[in-house]
Amino acid sequence: MRPAGERPLSCVRSFCKSRFAFLFQFICFYDFIFPVCSLIEKLSLSHIPFKNDAIVESWQELIDDCLGNIHTFNTKDRPGIEAAATAALSALSKEFYKTDSGEALLFVQDSLLSRYLEGLHCDIEQVRGSFAMALGVLPDFLLRGRLQQVLQGLYGVTKTPSTFPEFYDARRDAVVAIASVCTTVDACWDGDEQADLCQQNVDTIYNALMEAMNDFTRNIQGDVSLQVRVAAMNAATDVTLLLAKREPRFLTADIMRQLMCAFAPHLGETVKNTQKFATLSFMKLLHHDSPPLDHIPHRRQLEEIFPRNETLQTPTEIFPRAARLLSLPAYRPGMLLALSIAAGNVSTTQVVTKPLLEYIRSNEDSVEMNDFCELLLDILDSNLENARISTELLSAVDIMLSSGCFDVIEDSNHPFPQKLFSLCKRALRNKNLNKLKKIISVFCGLMQFHGELRRDIVKNLLYYLGHRLLQVRVWVAEQLYEMLLMFDDLLSPDDGEVTMCILSETNWHEPPDALKPVLNKLKEYMTKVQTHPV
Ligand SMILES: *[C@@H]1O[C@H](CO)[C@@H](O)[C@H](O)[C@H]1NC(C)=O
Ligand SMILES: *[C@@H]1O[C@H](CO)[C@@H](O)[C@H](O)[C@H]1NC(C)=O
Repeated sequence: MRPAGERPLSCVRSFCKSRFAFLFQFICFYDFIFPVCSLIEKLSLSHIPFKNDAIVESWQELIDDCLGNIHTFNTKDRPGIEAAATAALSALSKEFYKTDSGEALLFVQDSLLSRYLEGLHCDIEQVRGSFAMALGVLPDFLLRGRLQQVLQGLYGVTKTPSTFPEFYDARRDAVVAIASVCTTVDACWDGDEQADLCQQNVDTIYNALMEAMNDFTRNIQGDVSLQVRVAAMNAATDVTLLLAKREPRFLTADIMRQLMCAFAPHLGETVKNTQKFATLSFMKLLHHDSPPLDHIPHRRQLEEIFPRNETLQTPTEIFPRAARLLSLPAYRPGMLLALSIAAGNVSTTQVVTKPLLEYIRSNEDSVEMNDFCELLLDILDSNLENARISTELLSAVDIMLSSGCFDVIEDSNHPFPQKLFSLCKRALRNKNLNKLKKIISVFCGLMQFHGELRRDIVKNLLYYLGHRLLQVRVWVAEQLYEMLLMFDDLLSPDDGEVTMCILSETNWHEPPDALKPVLNKLKEYMTKVQTHPV
């Protein structure tokens, strides 16, 4: 007797086998592939008795074709197809790729994993991403014995390869896949690194996630890696809560400190939704109950800043709280960087500046202030070459200088002004107009400090006043004028008046050569700058 269902099954079989006729005909491609993937998934889930049947191989090929050609679909269809194909793969492999005793069919496992790991190196971004997603849905028996390679492969995709700066989608997919692999396999303190989360690979996973959290690649479209950071925050939260439940010993003091410190700066993100998401995740970790997470640095103070029952949504609610993290040493460096960037960004400066300046002014004694200055200089030292944020940082420094934050510094030999001046001069090497303008503002702000430095600054300002670019000359003239208004101890009242007159009456639109006589006159007055109060 023919087994029940033979006829419909053979239909499916021949339908699927004829797929090559369809495959690269783009008309109706989506309409065809989507239901077929869905069908494969449903048939597998229903335990259809196809074990060892050649049809399974065809199905697998169809799924592989889908993943390997994902870039040929319409952008809007891709996520749907990818989801359908990976769902089909997940169901299919669970149903057909294990022996009766629950182990992987080795020959299938070998070839499948080799193909998929290979796919992670594809030059086509979408294909990389889809193979990463596919690895993420494999059942644990297929990962067993190959876990290390899978994790390393995915980690490789999450890293920003300088040759493929555009691959942010693939990086996001790999981050999602890592979290998904973590939920699939067991967590076991002294487990097998090829099969379980264990001491040998937990660090790799956290490194991957924290590096992705810190992915700030930009291209002409802007902040394209935003979604990588969001996916990484999400993944890190999920993995951490999972480990807390299954094997909290993995969540060492070191990992928790790194994790929380990697999270904190995102509370100062300038993009609203990301900031909100980061705050939500941060609070989720902080207030997790079953079980509570150990080793969160400054937990008590954090609980005060972020009470359990509060929902923080808008930048106006979040930035002031984020600024309170500045007083907690573990979070201070990351937070100061993030908040300075936000203070220097025109779209957030309004909300951030007040709490940031309040914090700086709270450094009342000179020891605290010295520490703050050191930290600020460190941050500038490491970031002024970074084109993404250097202009924002300089704007923030300009704001700090012009708001009297540094009035505590009275010693004219204090190293801060001199060091800041040197850092700015170094940053001048990079010829970017906006940066140059900001640096000139900072130079003018630095004139508030007494000392010989004033002469050096004046020399530089005069040089830029004769700059070949009109915009620069006009900018310097304006800034100099404001500076003389603001600090009336720089020149004698008479000299000051004459200088300001010349600055405002000169037509800076004239070419530098024609300006020579004016510049010489200004030089004569300005070099009389007083370095110390008389
Ligand atoms: C400034 O903030 C806006 C939105 O708040 C953001 O889109 C942009 O990327 C930020 N600029 C920089 C340089 O970070
Ligand atoms: C939070 O709110 C719930 C109910 O809304 C309440 O039972 C709980 O005690 C509150 N917890 C805190 C810490 O205020």
